[in-house]
Amino acid sequence: MIQNFKGTTAVLTGAGSGFGLECARIGAARGMNLVLVDVQQDALDRARAEMEAAGAQVLARKVDVSNAAQMEQLAKDVQERFGAPHFVFNNAGVGAGGLVWENTVADWEWVLGVDLWGVIHGVRLFTPMMLEAAAKDASYRGHIVNTASMAGLLTAPNMGIYNAAKAAVVSLTETLYQDLKLITDQIGASILCPYFVPTGITSSERNRPGALAAGELTKSQMIGQAMSNKAVSSGKVTAAEVAQMVFDAISANQFYVFSHPNALGNVKSRMDSIVSITNPPDPFLARPEIGAKLRAQLRAG
Ligand SMILES: NC(=O)c1ccc[n+]([C@@H]2O[C@H](COP(=O)([O-])OP(=O)(O)OC[C@H]3O[C@@H](n4cnc5c(N)ncnc54)[C@H](O)[C@@H]3O)[C@@H](O)[C@H]2O)c1
Repeated sequence: MIQNFKGTTAVLTGAGSGFGLECARIGAARGMNLVLVDVQQDALDRARAEMEAAGAQVLARKVDVSNAAQMEQLAKDVQERFGAPHFVFNNAGVGAGGLVWENTVADWEWVLGVDLWGVIHGVRLFTPMMLEAAAKDASYRGHIVNTASMAGLLTAPNMGIYNAAKAAVVSLTETLYQDLKLITDQIGASILCPYFVPTGITSSERNRPGALAAGELTKSQMIGQAMSNKAVSSGKVTAAEVAQMVFDAISANQFYVFSHPNALGNVKSRMDSIVSITNPPDPFLARPEIGAKLRAQLRAG
């Protein structure tokens, strides 16, 4: 439970846009040292200039979070510049859709690489540094927040690749919470599960590496992209509001952070079907027209 952020250090991945950028803004306002991590250089440069102008001490690093060696170098650089971080936000992520059997190996490697391996690297590299700091100083407090998605709890159709990555992040983070509790009371963990919030997520392809380039888009992938563009751009909750929820959760030691708690009815119906051993329900139970439209589009000749 971190109550006073002043002079503490945050490591934020995906800091050039969306939730990462908004958390950096709050961190700067609260007097934190900021480690800004992003793969997109121009966005990173802008974030760095803004946070420095706001008075923060900044270490900015262009890093691909899916890359083990780059993440290891980042961890060393953080240790050298600021010491163990207090708030680690494993947040960088990309989106992709389409029928689950139509995704290419490159699609899987890209999405699992950023969304899952990025979190794995952040956890495996920064947790030991935080535990060491906690062992040395009884007043040290740390918190790790991993960004999953409601997609990690709902299995919406035509986006299996993203659902699988985010479900793994939910599982990893719940386990992290339990594992930390075995070892220390000084470090907490939370999972951020946003629903649809306007950010740069629908143009994730902008940062897709050439080596994992997309093949020609299938019909289901094009439909998936159009649907997520519409859902994300019409989201009413802002990224700044979500970032505030993240800081509130750290101070309250609250594990689950939901941007849209009203969407939890869909999670409940999924869980109910699991425990009553009935087949999966419509993940958009309150809006059956979504599934109907998708079915009609995919079955049209
Ligand atoms: N916006 C939503 O509706 C929504 C919903 C659920 C989950 N999420 C999750 O929120 C997280 C943040 O996304 P956002 O919505 O702020 O989108 P965003 O595109 O605005 O921000 C993501 C940032 O991650 C960076 N990034 C992409 N690949 C990277 C890599 N390999 N290494 C380092 N940085 C990389 C991007 O350059 C970008 O700055 C993601 O994990 C996303 O899956 C978003």
